[in-house]
Amino acid sequence: MAALHERCNVLLSLETCKAVNRNWTADMNDNMKAGPELEIIFPPEAIAKRLGELAREIANEGADNLMVVAILKGSFVFAADLIRALHGVGLAPEVDFMTLSSYRKARTSAGQVTILRDMDLDVRGRNVLIIDDVLDSGRTLAFAKDLIAARGAKAIKTCVLLDKRVKRAVQVEPDYCAFECPDTFVVGYGMDVAHRYRELPFVGRVVRE
Ligand code: IMP
Ligand code: MG
Repeated sequence: MAALHERCNVLLSLETCKAVNRNWTADMNDNMKAGPELEIIFPPEAIAKRLGELAREIANEGADNLMVVAILKGSFVFAADLIRALHGVGLAPEVDFMTLSSYRKARTSAGQVTILRDMDLDVRGRNVLIIDDVLDSGRTLAFAKDLIAARGAKAIKTCVLLDKRVKRAVQVEPDYCAFECPDTFVVGYGMDVAHRYRELPFVGRVVRE
C-alpha cells in the first residue's frame, strides 16, 4: 500500500502532511477539522527521482568548470538536492547564491526584479548553471541570465524545478526543467506564501488557509 504522500493530488491538512512525513499515524478526521489544507502536486519521491534524471542530463551535456548560482530564497531546497545529485553523477560545481525579488508578499509578480543580495563569486569565463524554483512570467530568470552574461560568463544554462506553462512577460525558456506545473500558486520544497510552508518536503497548493 503506497504511503499517503506517494499519491498525487490527495487533499491533506497541513498537520496531516507533517505527520505523514514523520511516519506518524495521523488522525485524518481530527486534522481535517481546522487549519490549512494542502493538495500535494509533486510528492518527495517523484522529485528525488526526477532530480537524478536531471543531474545525468546536465552531466551528459558537458559541465566542466561548472558554477551553480541558486536564486534565493525559493530555490534553496531544490538547489541543495540538485547539487547533491550532481555530486552523485561525478560533478563538483562551485556554488553561489543571489537573492532576487519580484513577488514580495503578493502572489502575483510585481513586475520588477530587484537584487536583495548579490552573489560573491566571479562568473567571468565560467560555465554557469542558474537554478530557480519556478519559471512563471520569465522576468526573474531573464534578469539573472542577463546580469550573469553582462558580467562575462562563458556560457549560461538554466534549470528550474517548475515551469508554469503560461504566457511569459519576458521570452525565456529553461534548458532543464524538472516538471511542468499547472498555473496555480505552489508552496513547499522551499517555496512559500508569506514566508510559510518552505519546510514541506513536497510541492503542493494551498486549497484552504
Ligand atoms: P517570474 O519572474 O514571474 O518568472 O517568477 C519567478 C519567481 O517568482 C520565482 O523565482 C519564484 O520565487 C516566484 N514564484 C512564481 N510562482 C510561484 C509560486 O507559485 N509559488 C512560489 N513562488 C513563485
Ligand atoms: Mg524565486
